[in-house]
Amino acid sequence: MLDRFKSKFCGSGRDYYESARPAPSTASPRPVFVDRITGELSVKCPDCGFSFVETLPRDRHQHRKYHDGVVFGLKRSAITQIKSVSSSGANSVRLVNAGSPRAHRRVAQELSLIMAGDVEFSFVAYHADEPDDDRHYQIFIGTEGDRAVSYLILERRHRVWRCTWEEYDSQKSTKLPAVNGVWSVGMAWVCRANRKKGWIRRSLDAAAQHLDFTWDRLGWYTPFSSDGEGLARHLCPRGILIAK
Ligand SMILES: CC(C)(COP(=O)(O)OP(=O)(O)OC[C@H]1O[C@@H](n2cnc3c(N)ncnc32)[C@H](O)[C@@H]1OP(=O)(O)O)[C@@H](O)C(=O)NCCC(=O)NCCS
Ligand SMILES: [Zn+2]
Repeated sequence: MLDRFKSKFCGSGRDYYESARPAPSTASPRPVFVDRITGELSVKCPDCGFSFVETLPRDRHQHRKYHDGVVFGLKRSAITQIKSVSSSGANSVRLVNAGSPRAHRRVAQELSLIMAGDVEFSFVAYHADEPDDDRHYQIFIGTEGDRAVSYLILERRHRVWRCTWEEYDSQKSTKLPAVNGVWSVGMAWVCRANRKKGWIRRSLDAAAQHLDFTWDRLGWYTPFSSDGEGLARHLCPRGILIAK
């Protein structure tokens, strides 16, 4: 079966749910170039990175839609119905897996498509009708009310290596006997307005509790993006399990 993710990465534990949505940036989009034939001015939004012609209504509409998803996440009423595995006030970590209702799997699919548009590396987004297989995917979605703001997919993986960061840097690792496999971070993403507010940390805490594993048994699917590697190094300073 096609491996869904080409680039992935990982996470430890404290509880903080204080994230509030900041006001959208008031900075005006920076000009990028002028079309020599039409004279139209193309601009790049500093918040979401989208380039568009401001004078074209269709472009403005596309930008608004893209901007809202990438910066603030996905707003859907069904989100509040998804099974919660951890919550504090209006903020929750919710779980979608193969046993979830289709409407909830669709939310995960929509969120993964927003994420796919935001990241520079290539990966295939989650599909709501994907059959369950031996990876038994578990998608932990951070939510603020009816907004999904973060996405973390864990999959059961059976090829496992252990390495310190020194070993990782020199491309050395020790293959471990797989036994039952480990839960491995396949992909993590947080909408831009909510980064560095603990959504992945608390999602991993919720996952460890719900799936009953300890942090030293958490795997990461490599290669990492630069954000993913920074996160993994910060959360697992002594080293990681690479699990594929
Ligand atoms: C990687 C990503 C998901 C991290 O999200 P986040 O919102 O920063 O995650 P958290 O706030 O839960 O971070 C947990 C801890 O890791 C730290 N951390 C997060 N990203 C880091 C980075 N790039 N470098 C160093 N530390 C980092 C946070 O500061 C936080 O530390 P603390 O709990 O001790 O205060 C986010 O940057 C992102 O969506 N990036 C784009 C998508 C991407 O590249 N995903 C990885 C695919 S391999
Ligand atoms: Zn924008």
